Order: sequence, then structure tokens, then C-alpha cells
Amino acid sequence: MTVPVTVKMRSGWSSGEINAPLIARICEDNGADAVTVHGRTKEMQYSGAADRGIITLVRKAVGIPVIANGDIRTWSDHKAMLEETGAAAAAIGRGACGNPWAFLSIKEGRDIEVSPAERIQGAIRHLDMLVEWAGETHGVIEARKHIAWYLHGIRGAGAVRTRIMSLKKAAEVRETLREFAVRSGESVL
Ligand SMILES: Cc1cc2nc3c(=O)[nH]c(=O)nc-3n(C[C@H](O)[C@H](O)[C@H](O)COP(=O)(O)O)c2cc1C
Repeated sequence: MTVPVTVKMRSGWSSGEINAPLIARICEDNGADAVTVHGRTKEMQYSGAADRGIITLVRKAVGIPVIANGDIRTWSDHKAMLEETGAAAAAIGRGACGNPWAFLSIKEGRDIEVSPAERIQGAIRHLDMLVEWAGETHGVIEARKHIAWYLHGIRGAGAVRTRIMSLKKAAEVRETLREFAVRSGESVL
């Protein structure tokens, strides 16, 4: 059986040491099927903006497909990234956290506004799927960070996030989310 091998890299170590084009060439020469480039250096961590220029340089340096990564949250970001870099595809990182609608938005070719009710409903669904997949104990623990992402930016969600971090039963988490929705004037199933 053969499987495609891809390599993911940052743009370089620091602004003085941008080496993604070189690393990508080495990957290609040694059989990689594609490379993914996050347009930030190691030194930047998550600060500043992902540099699309460096991703473009990588795209020009290799013949294999380049997958562009960094700061894609919406369909518009995705479109701009592909247009500016000429990359074959894009990878979404933080923009997908608590936001599975990012993929729908890109698939449908339009930016999507997601209401608080939909986000709370999404958090409950994600919790249910994690509990089904990992069992109640691990599913609830794993769901905590995802729920926090879903609730990010919803007014009054801070206290709910804190409470959920200490709950162990899926039913309690569900109920807390439903109560929050009701208090916020949102209706969820
Ligand atoms: C929760 C989380 C987990 C991640 N795990 C990995 C990982 O295992 N390997 C990796 O190469 N990058 C990982 N990353 C980095 C992302 O893949 C991505 O390169 C980075 O977040 C920049 O893209 P963004 O601006 O769209 O977030 C992770 C990022 C987040 C937020």
C-alpha cells in the first residue's frame, strides 16, 4: 500500500532565517507529495499576521502542491489566500475551533453569520458526538475546550465556560448550555 506523504512547516525560524522555500525543495527532492506552509516563523508563535508572500515563494520554489495556512477564518480569507499565493489548497487552524461552519462557508463560497443559538446548539452536538466516541468521562473533559471555543464572543458566556470546566456529567453540561441559551433569549432544541 502506498500513502501520500505531506510535510508541514513554518515560514522559517525567525525573520532573519526564512527557510521554508529551501525546506520545501528538500522535501520535494525526497519524495514528499505536498507541503503545507504556515506563514509565520517559529519566533512569531501566533503573533502578527501570516505572511502570504513567503507562501508564494514556496509555491514558486516547488512543483508539488502547496497548501497555504495561517489566519483563515472565513470564505473571504480562504479566497484571498488562494488568489494571493497561488496555493493549491488551504488548511484552517484556529478558525475551525468551535467553528465547523468555516468548512461549510468555504464549500458554499460565501461568508456565513452564525447566531448564538446555532453556536450553543453546535456545542451541544459536539459534546454528544465526543461522548458517543470517547465515553462520558473522557468525552466531557475533551468537550470543555471545544465548548469554550463555540461560546467565544457570546455575551455573558464567561461564567458558563467557567462552570462547564468543573462539570463531569454530559447531562449537566447540556442543561447548563440550554439554560444559558434561554437566559440569552435564544432558543435551542
Ligand atoms: C488546537 C490547535 C492544535 C494544533 N495542533 C497542531 C499539530 O498537531 N501540528 C501542527 O503542525 N500544527 C498544529 N497547530 C497549528 C495549526 O495547524 C496552524 O498551523 C496554526 O494554528 C496557524 O493557522 P491558523 O492561523 O489558521 O490558526 C494547532 C493549532 C491549534 C489551534
